[in-house]
Amino acid sequence: MIRLKNEKQIDGIRKSCKMLSAMYRELIPQVKPGVQTIDIDHWVRDWIKKAGGKPVFLGYRMKKNPYPAAICVSINEEVIHGIPSKRRVREGDLVSLDCGIDLGGFISDQAVSVEAGRVSKQVRDLNAATLECLRRGIAAVKAGDRLLQISRAVENHAKSFGYGIVQEYCGHGVGLALHEDPQVPNYPHGPNPKMNNGMVMAIEPMINMGTADIEILDDEWTVVTADGQVSAHWEHTVAVFNGKTEVLTEPLEQFVFV
Ligand code: MF3
Ligand code: CO
Repeated sequence: MIRLKNEKQIDGIRKSCKMLSAMYRELIPQVKPGVQTIDIDHWVRDWIKKAGGKPVFLGYRMKKNPYPAAICVSINEEVIHGIPSKRRVREGDLVSLDCGIDLGGFISDQAVSVEAGRVSKQVRDLNAATLECLRRGIAAVKAGDRLLQISRAVENHAKSFGYGIVQEYCGHGVGLALHEDPQVPNYPHGPNPKMNNGMVMAIEPMINMGTADIEILDDEWTVVTADGQVSAHWEHTVAVFNGKTEVLTEPLEQFVFV
C-alpha cells in the first residue's frame, strides 16, 4: 500500500532531508585517504544527535541481525551496506556513503559516492554516469505518469556504457518509514503504479563497472560485486505534490567533483 503524504508531512520530511544533506556537506570533505570508516560513523552519530535527529539505519533490521551503525560506508567493490570498521580509506578509493535521519518521525534517505584523492578515469566515469542515472531517473518523475519510466531512464543510461545494474536492491517509498511501497527498481520490473501527488520516493541507482551480479558477505550485510569490480551509488529523496516534482535532499555533487 502506497502511503500518500499531506503537505504537513512533506514539510516534515523536507526538514529531515535538509538536515541530512547539511550533515553530508560537512562529512564529504573528511572522507580522505587515511580516515578510518568507524571514525566516519562516530562523527555521523554525534552530528545527528547534536542536530536533534536520530540515525534511522542504526539497529534497522532487514533480516536477522540489526545494522550496527548510523551510516553505510561501501568502498570500491562494496556496493551497499558496508559496515564501518577499522579499515582506512586509501587514495583512489570510491567511497559510497548512505545515511538516513529520523527527525520527529519524518525519514530522509540519501547516498553519495565520494572519490578519495585522485581516482582512475574509469572510476570517475562510472561515478559520473551513476549520478547521471539518478538525474535522469528524477527527470522521469511526473505526476500522473507511471513509475517504471524512472526505471527505464536509469537502465537506458547505464546500459549505454555497458555497466551492470544491480537488480536485487532498489529504490523505495520513504518518509514515514525507511522502506515503504512502492519499490522503485533500476530496471523496469514488477508493479507500475501511477506517480500521484503525495508520493515520496528514494531513487537510488547502484551501478557496477562490470557485471550486475552481487554477493553478500558473511557479516550478512555487506553487498559486494561478484566480479570484484567497482560499484557506485547515488540517492535522493524526491516528492510529488501539487503536480510538481521536488527533490527534497540537496545536491552534493559540487562537494564530490571538485
Ligand atoms: N539506505 C538504504 C536504502 O536505501 C538502507 C540501508 S539498510 C540499513 O534502502 F540497515 F542500513 F538501514
Ligand atoms: Co534508500
